[in-house]
Amino acid sequence: MPDLLLDFKKDISVIEEGDGVVMRSANSSFNLGQLSPGLVAALRQLADGGATEDRLADIVQETADAAALPMFYYYLQQFINMGIICYTVRADGLPLATLVPFSTAGQLEFPHVALDQKYTLSRFAYCRHEKGRAIVETPLFPAKIILADWRSAALLGELAQPQDCNTLTKIPGISADTVRSFFSLLLTAKMLDVASATENDTMTQWEFHDLLFHSRSRMGRHDYPSGKTHPFLDKIPPLPAVKPKMSDFSGTVRAIDLYKPDIPKLKAGDVPFTWVLEERKSIRNYGVNPITDKQLGEFLYRSARMRALRPSMTMMECSNRPYPGGGACYELELYLAVNTCDNIDSGLYHYCPQDHQLCHIADRNRQVEALLKNALGSSGEDELPQVLIILAARFQRVAWDYQSMAYSIILKHVGVLYQTMYLVATAMDLAPCGLGAGNADLFATAAGTDYYAESSVGEFMLGSKGK
Ligand SMILES: Cc1cc2nc3c(=O)[nH]c(=O)nc-3n(C[C@H](O)[C@H](O)[C@H](O)COP(=O)(O)O)c2cc1C
Repeated sequence: MPDLLLDFKKDISVIEEGDGVVMRSANSSFNLGQLSPGLVAALRQLADGGATEDRLADIVQETADAAALPMFYYYLQQFINMGIICYTVRADGLPLATLVPFSTAGQLEFPHVALDQKYTLSRFAYCRHEKGRAIVETPLFPAKIILADWRSAALLGELAQPQDCNTLTKIPGISADTVRSFFSLLLTAKMLDVASATENDTMTQWEFHDLLFHSRSRMGRHDYPSGKTHPFLDKIPPLPAVKPKMSDFSGTVRAIDLYKPDIPKLKAGDVPFTWVLEERKSIRNYGVNPITDKQLGEFLYRSARMRALRPSMTMMECSNRPYPGGGACYELELYLAVNTCDNIDSGLYHYCPQDHQLCHIADRNRQVEALLKNALGSSGEDELPQVLIILAARFQRVAWDYQSMAYSIILKHVGVLYQTMYLVATAMDLAPCGLGAGNADLFATAAGTDYYAESSVGEFMLGSKGK
């Protein structure tokens, strides 16, 4: 192992209480019982500035207790397994970079680095600031590295090109041995690649942002709070369950009442479920006669209306709709870019799920045309969709409830609603097709929304079915 300084994570303190030693962190505390004075001194050192492993062993041995050293190594291993030991490379006696493991990191292997071996920065490593410190993270490993000194940031910058320990000694106070320790730290955290190494086929097919999204929205690779933590409770009020009715760009609300089907009658006499499931398919061509306002009303009512408002334990108003939704947040808003529909003018509309109305936003302008043409491009066909249903998310509805996974939940909801719309369209003998790509910026401009507050996350084409 390189010459690293070991210390406890910053939130850990060691306190002698009554007849035992207690270790406390932000969320837990455990009593280690009575320990020998040498061991207590080593634990105190770990909590107060740290030391190299050899120095810690010396501290333990400064007392005459022969059993203390094996006991120290036993405890050190437990702390490493728990992911509470940090490892620091120093330059000129000052911290250069610190590896902070997450709880699942386990035993770390610090590989030997040959002075003439060339390395480059991993394409998955990224740098950002956290609480005033520059940190490097990667979806490949559960740890972060704190860049404690501008020189570690300079070293990283140089690593965009292949470098070895000897070529990076131009920076003041950085010796080849320091670079070697720094490389070993980066290699342990999978932030550095051997310059000549090639990725296997699995890794080659991961894009940086996809792997980062995967690793940060699932548990295992990080220690950040995750799940239904209500991070903004008592800080930011939640958005209402139903978006207020939208006006057009002149500020006028023009709402069209839509047809409501007879649900009890449909429950009793609709086509069988298995028929719908087996007949469902994507259809990208349409009948000669356009979809009607009545069909559109029935389709929206059956797949996306609000059935009821629901109070919630967390002070966030929720609702109930025909499709399931995590936390009953129902953040998805439906916008309709109408190309052709009987009795409804071409243009852009917002669906009000509470009153089952379409609110007019814009006539068929340049942006509406572009939204329809983009859908055409995605479908690979030569016929514009009769109606393009754009699914936009009011992101903060979900972010108010869930942490680390809000966007992934939203995309799951897109899938849930797609399938619901596919099945309803099939039961109604309409032509449905989900789409994978869409332009969120174009949507925000067309609908006049704030990209960060509400923009598109999915598109669904709908029309009458041809023969
Ligand atoms: C999330 C998702 C994205 C899709 N994206 C597109 C698309 O961009 N263009 C397209 O023509 N079809 C798209 N489809 C439709 C699929 O191509 C289609 O579901 C698949 O080929 C299976 O055929 P089927 O739906 O007829 O059973 C998408 C479907 C889903 C669920």
